[in-house]
Formats: sequence, structure tokens, C-alpha cells
Amino acid sequence: MTSTDTAWVAPANADQLTAWDTAEGVFWAEHAELFEHSLQRYDDWLLRAAGIRDGDQVLDVGCGTGSTTRSAAWLAGSGTALGVDLSSPMLTVAALRARDAGTGNATYLQADAQVHPFEPEAYDVLLSRTGCMFFGDQVEAFTNLARAVKPGGRLSLLVWQPPSQNPWFTELTTALAVGRTLPSPPPDAPSPFALADPARIAQILTAAGFATPECEPVKERMYWGPDVPTAVDFVLGVLGWLLDDLDPDELTRAMTNLRRTLVSHYSAGGVTFPSAAWLVTTRKPA
Ligand SMILES: C[S@@+](CC[C@H](N)C(=O)[O-])C[C@H]1O[C@@H](n2cnc3c(N)ncnc32)[C@H](O)[C@@H]1O
Repeated sequence: MTSTDTAWVAPANADQLTAWDTAEGVFWAEHAELFEHSLQRYDDWLLRAAGIRDGDQVLDVGCGTGSTTRSAAWLAGSGTALGVDLSSPMLTVAALRARDAGTGNATYLQADAQVHPFEPEAYDVLLSRTGCMFFGDQVEAFTNLARAVKPGGRLSLLVWQPPSQNPWFTELTTALAVGRTLPSPPPDAPSPFALADPARIAQILTAAGFATPECEPVKERMYWGPDVPTAVDFVLGVLGWLLDDLDPDELTRAMTNLRRTLVSHYSAGGVTFPSAAWLVTTRKPA
């Protein structure tokens, strides 16, 4: 399946497929190590909340290059973990990394989690590390996912708190904006911040058939690379589109701002920024 063959994707997710299955997904796949490391400090929170036990069947939604799927598979022991994602380049890396790690009970599937016909009531745990904010229709997606979860099954999601709580986003975009006011997407549009509001999370998940969720605030430092030059390349891969319309002077200023911002967050542990997420937990009623 490719981004030119969209029959398996909800029409509302066609743009996401194009992004994740081509340039954006290729960049993630080529920088898998960095991306996986960047959110690693959240993994213990997410996995502990998921309460994975030996024999569990786990579904990792928007698994990307699969680090949380591998961890879930390891915790599931005699069980399995399935990672689903839109992005073929990221899933190729995920499968290679699972093979190299000898994680035989982790498997991967290219699918749109919003509409894929998962086996009903097959999963004990639904897990996602920042992979659930891009659905064109959140209620349809979580209703589809709820069908796949066993009665009493658990859900553990990590989603970003609003930009105002995430200096990695505000400081980096401000550096690259060079004084421009950047457009911000509507809060319910697919974006990293689409599930930033706990009231909206509760509305979506209860409409989809889950019990009322808890949203626990969690703050960790987000890793952007071992040194400033690596972090510059990493930031430009993620946010470089902000430079598209700049004239040469503005471009020079933006790059100076970016380096200065990254230097101010550099220490012995590399370049790290404060960040804030919600750890969302709930169950499908038994
Ligand atoms: C921010 S990345 C997170 C990747 C990974 N969970 C991690 O933490 O490194 C979001 C992921 O969600 C995937 N995604 C977006 N919409 C999706 C959908 N409708 N179905 C399945 N995966 C989706 C993207 O392809 C991308 O890999």
C-alpha cells in the first residue's frame, strides 16, 4: 500500500498518509534513533500506566519506528504487540529494529487506525506515544479502536499539553518565525496539539465507548541531539518548512536565532527542552 493508493485510508486522513508515507516519514525513518530517543523519558510513564502483563495482546497506534511496540512486546512476554501506522518507510525501520532486537512477538501493519477492520475484542491494551493526534475524525477513530479492545481492556496514551506548556515548540517556532505571526491550526484539526485539552479528550473517548479518562500531567525533558549541529539538522527536518518564504536576510537571522536557542538548552546531556504531556488512561467497560 502506498500514498498513491488511498482506498484503505479514510478520506479525512488522505493528507496525513501523503505526509507520513513520503517526505516526513522518510525523514523520521532516517532519523529513527533520534526520534525514538527524543521522547524516551516518557516511556516509563506510558508503559507503567498500560500495566502490560505476560500474555497480553497489545495494540500500539501510530507506532512510527516501533520503539514502544518493542517495549510492549517485551513486557507482554508470551503475548504479542502489533504496531499500526500509516507510514511504510517508518514501518520498514520498525520491522528491521524488531528483528535486530530479537523481538519476535512484535509485528507491524500499515493501516489507518481510524477505519482498519481490526479483529473485534482482541486486545488487552491499547497504547500510543503521540500517535493519536492526527485522525481526521477522532470519534470515529477511537470508536474503531474501542471495538478492537476486550471488555475491561486498558488504554494508555501520551499526548502533548498545549503549546504554551511546551517550550520546545514555542521557543523553536519563535526562533524560526523571525517576528512573523505564524498561523496556528484550529484546536480540533489533526496536529501534535489536537488532544491538548482534557475536556475534549474526555468527550472523544466517552463518545467512543471508553470510561471517563484520567489525564495526568507529566513533564520531562525532550531530547534533540547530542550536540548543537545535530540538533540544528533535526529541528530543520521537523520545522524547516517555517523557513520556506523567508528572504536571505531573514533566513540568516532565523538560523542565528535557532543556533542561539539550541545553545541555551545544551548541557552535558545534549540538547534538551522542557516539555509537558498528558498521560491519558482509561478502560473499555467490562
Ligand atoms: C508523532 S509520530 C509518533 C510515532 C511514534 N509513536 C513515536 O513515539 O515515535 C505520529 C505517528 O502517527 C502515525 N499516524 C498518523 N495518523 C495515523 C492513522 N490514521 N493511523 C495510523 N497511524 C497514524 C504517523 O504515521 C506517525 O508515525
